[in-house]
Amino acid sequence: MTTKALLAGVALAALGTGAAAQTVGFSQIGSESGWRAAETTVTMQEAEARGVDLRFSDAQQRQENQIAAMRSFIAQGVDAIFVAPVVATGWDSVLEEAAEAEIPVILLDRMVDSDPSLYLTAVGSDLVHEGSVAGQWLVDTVGEEACRVVELQGTTGSSPAIDRANGFREAIEGHANIEIVRSQTGDFTRSGGKEVMESFLQAEGGGADICALYAHNDDMALGAIQAIKEAGLDPGDDILIVSIDAVPDIFQAMADGDANATVELTPNMAGPAFDALDAYMADGTMPEKFIQTESALYTQDDDPLAQYEARKDLGY
Ligand code: AHR
Repeated sequence: MTTKALLAGVALAALGTGAAAQTVGFSQIGSESGWRAAETTVTMQEAEARGVDLRFSDAQQRQENQIAAMRSFIAQGVDAIFVAPVVATGWDSVLEEAAEAEIPVILLDRMVDSDPSLYLTAVGSDLVHEGSVAGQWLVDTVGEEACRVVELQGTTGSSPAIDRANGFREAIEGHANIEIVRSQTGDFTRSGGKEVMESFLQAEGGGADICALYAHNDDMALGAIQAIKEAGLDPGDDILIVSIDAVPDIFQAMADGDANATVELTPNMAGPAFDALDAYMADGTMPEKFIQTESALYTQDDDPLAQYEARKDLGY
């Protein structure tokens, strides 16, 4: 740990003003997916319900925009900063600047490789576990059958892309019948998923050689489903589809038989983040460094239409 990081840790530990946060800056990645839109909506709703002035900045997928927004929040003297970091590296300087200004930073849904003393806490799922739940579903579903898998990865360098790839590989390890034959980023977008899936289909005998698609999020899976249909194949049947997020549209696709399984990622990262911040500001209570959300598996057996109905008005 650097001296700066140590000092920052001391500065954070010393806070505890007795007053609730009034202004919070939120640096959001962008709006690449339905899940991201829902996280933005929920964060705004949570702030409003708590009477917090939320200063929102959309980085349009660019880390430099996030860093500039965080510097602006520091200059404004906000009580705290929430950031959903687009990639995992390159945050040390701005986190040190926030710590020196005694502004606690809370990470939402993605991780950074900085020293943990530089942020108050991180709220998110176990991203490796999510990938492993998806991989285990495939292992259980195909049994001993040979299965050539194509993988749509998330944004290169982001913690979910790295960890969901690793978790899936951990789950299929030791199952020689399951092989990842192609892997490429679709940048967590529907259009990216469609475009990359088209190239996978072309390279794999028009899709005849593909047994399953593993997509790091539902939006890419939904784009890929469209590509598979346009290639004259039946998604969910000719090609198994497993992905992550549990957005309403994937449940509609499951109800239609076009998708097979998804792993839920709650968009409500802000609720636990505000709770941790409130306790910290009230009396200096230090939260756990990682506040973990659940990662439940849903399949076609879980009444997908009911799941769709339950989620469709939640801001996705
Ligand atoms: O960081 C969470 C991921 O980011 C979600 O799974 C994905 O949909 C989003 O873009």
